[in-house]
Amino acid sequence: MELEGKRIIVTGAARGMGEAIVRAYVNAGAQVVAMDVNDEDGASVAAAASAGGPGSASYMHLDVADRQSVESAFAAAVAEMGGLDVLAHPAAIQRSSSASDVTDEDWDLMFAVNVRGTMLTNQVAYQYMKESGGGSIINFGSISGQRPEPGAAAYSASKGAVHSWTRTAAGTWGADNVRVNAILPAMATPMYREANQRYSEKQLEIAYWRNRHSIALGQEYGDPDEDLGPVMVFFASDASRFITGQMIPVDGGQTNVR
Ligand SMILES: NC(=O)c1ccc[n+]([C@@H]2O[C@H](COP(=O)([O-])OP(=O)(O)OC[C@H]3O[C@@H](n4cnc5c(N)ncnc54)[C@H](O)[C@@H]3O)[C@@H](O)[C@H]2O)c1
Repeated sequence: MELEGKRIIVTGAARGMGEAIVRAYVNAGAQVVAMDVNDEDGASVAAAASAGGPGSASYMHLDVADRQSVESAFAAAVAEMGGLDVLAHPAAIQRSSSASDVTDEDWDLMFAVNVRGTMLTNQVAYQYMKESGGGSIINFGSISGQRPEPGAAAYSASKGAVHSWTRTAAGTWGADNVRVNAILPAMATPMYREANQRYSEKQLEIAYWRNRHSIALGQEYGDPDEDLGPVMVFFASDASRFITGQMIPVDGGQTNVR
């Protein structure tokens, strides 16, 4: 019951890390509103987590790229929970393309969801957290935002922007006791599996040497429930009250943040 009394919004809750985060928070006793564009899966994730208790979860539709959607969903969630203490924001999309052939459409789509979505959800959450005396915003960056990414140029640029935004938002909102950090994960989720499915045999070999070989703790991507859930509980809890503006790899040692 480490998070008893915490009121939390989780974006991207229909699958992958968002799904695991909803479970971790409900297990820790929090009151959660799970949000996603995928309503069917999002609603069943919330219902299943809630049934297990001891906290609770409900579901609301959200498109993070759309200001009106963010404002109305967050207002409804805050009305339901009576305030907002934590935003966990894993919702994002990934499309492959190199620096030479990335299209305007793919660039704009990834920047709308990954970058504008981070700005909008953070900005709206901040307004509510400020009113309740503070809070914790947990964004999702990537090793892709830290290094050259030949196969995912726009995604890499979008995650680099999430890192910069996280530092700036933390520096700006610390005065209101609102913390902003970013997790840089390496987890076996649908996004990870879909990326692997697009690879040829040669690309899979390259991916092993680029992505898995450097995971010191076992050369495999992590499990979102076992390896990420407890870290997300820590960043939602008051135990992390003096940490802000940081890029936190939860990746078995895959990357170094400097
Ligand atoms: N999987 C990894 O190892 C890895 C590595 C580095 C970074 N990341 C980042 O971690 C986060 C979580 O990744 P994941 O692997 O769980 O992804 P995922 O694709 O499995 O899940 C993403 C969720 O976000 C939702 N979503 C997409 N667009 C949305 C929108 N416009 N509005 C609301 N919801 C939307 C999807 O419906 C989905 O439920 C992402 O930010 C991703 O970029 C993942």
